Amino acid sequence: MTDPAIAANGLRKSYGDKVVLDGIDLVVPEGTIFSLLGPNGAGKTTAVNILSTLVSPDPASGAIRVGGHDLGADPQAVRAGIGVTGQFSAVDGLITGEENMLLMADLHHLPRSEGRRVTAELLERFDLTDAAKKPASSYSGGMKRRLDIAMTLVGSPRIIFLDEPTTGLDPRSRHTMWQIIRELVTGGVTVFLTTQYLEEADQLADRIAVLNNGRIAAEGSAEELKRLVPGGHVRLRFTDPHAYRSAASALHDVARDDEALALQIPSDGSQRELRAVLDRLDTAGIEADELTVHTPDLDDVFFALTGSAADTGTAGVPSQTTASDQTKENVR
Ligand SMILES: Nc1ncnc2c1ncn2[C@@H]1O[C@H](COP(=O)(O)OP(=O)(O)OP(=O)(O)O)[C@@H](O)[C@H]1O
Ligand SMILES: [Mg+2]
Repeated sequence: MTDPAIAANGLRKSYGDKVVLDGIDLVVPEGTIFSLLGPNGAGKTTAVNILSTLVSPDPASGAIRVGGHDLGADPQAVRAGIGVTGQFSAVDGLITGEENMLLMADLHHLPRSEGRRVTAELLERFDLTDAAKKPASSYSGGMKRRLDIAMTLVGSPRIIFLDEPTTGLDPRSRHTMWQIIRELVTGGVTVFLTTQYLEEADQLADRIAVLNNGRIAAEGSAEELKRLVPGGHVRLRFTDPHAYRSAASALHDVARDDEALALQIPSDGSQRELRAVLDRLDTAGIEADELTVHTPDLDDVFFALTGSAADTGTAGVPSQTTASDQTKENVR
C-alpha cells in the first residue's frame, strides 16, 4: 500500500468569525484526479492554498499529509513535490512566454542548459513555440492558461493543484486542457482540480467532492453522485389541450404543467420504462407532440446539494434538501 498523494483530516479554516472550512476530510490516491466542486465562495481556493502550503490551516485541524510529508512539520518537503496553478494567472505579461518559463526554471534551481531544454520541451508540448518570443501580455486567455500550466510543470511535480484551470476558456481550449490533464495523469501525476464546470468534473475526475457551507456535502464518483438525486424523467409535450388532459389521466404518477401542456413522468430512462409509457399512450390512442428523456447530470446534483447559497457566495443558512441528507448517509 502506498501513501495517498493527499490526505487531510478535519481540515479547518476560519477568517475572523467566518468559518470557511469546517472540518473536511480528503483522501486522494496517487495518480488520480480529484475534483473539488462548490459555489463561489465555498472555500475551494482556500483548500488549495492550504494543501499547497500557501495558507496555514487552523490549529484545530487534524493531520494533513501531502506527497507523504506532514504539512505542518515539513512544508518545505511538501513544496518540493507539488506544483500549483492558481485561479489567477501567475504569468508576467511584461516578459515573453519563454522568459516566464526560464524564470521558473531558475526558481527551481535547474542548471541553465537543463532549464533551456525543459522550457523548449514544454513550450512545444503546449503549442506555444511560435509565441515563445512574444510578450505574454499579447497572448490570448487560452494561451496564458496553457503557459501557466507549463510553468507549473517546470519542476516535474508529482502532485499538481489546478484551481479552475479552464474558467474563461472556449470549448476547444477547454478540451485541449482536458487532454493535457489526462496526459499528466497517465504519466502518474496526481491532480487536485477545482472547477465551476460540472461537465469538467464528470469528464476528468475519478472522485468528486461537493463543498458547501464549509463541509463536504457529498463525495463519490460522478456516477455515484448522479445516483443520489432524483431527476430522471420523461417529458411529454402536447399542443392539443384535449390530448394533454387524456394523457394526464391515462398515465400514473405524473407532474402536470398545465400552462406548457407538458407532463413529467419519473423514469430511469430505461427502454423498459419508456416502453411502458408509450404503451399506455398507445392504448389510450394519444400521441404526444414531443418526447424527451432527461437523465440526471451533475448539474442536478450540484443544485440539489448547494441550494440557494450558490448565489450569495456566503456560508449563509444551510438550505438542507432531502438529497443532501440522503447523500450524507449514503456516501459519507
Ligand atoms: N484572506 C482572506 N481573508 C478573509 N476572508 C477570506 C480570505 N480568503 C478567503 N476568504 C473568504 O473565504 C471564503 C472562501 O473563499 P475561496 O476563495 O476559498 O472560495 P472559492 O470556493 O475559491 O470561490 P470562487 O469559486 O469564487 O473562486 C470567501 O467567503 C472569502 O471571502
Ligand atoms: Mg476560488
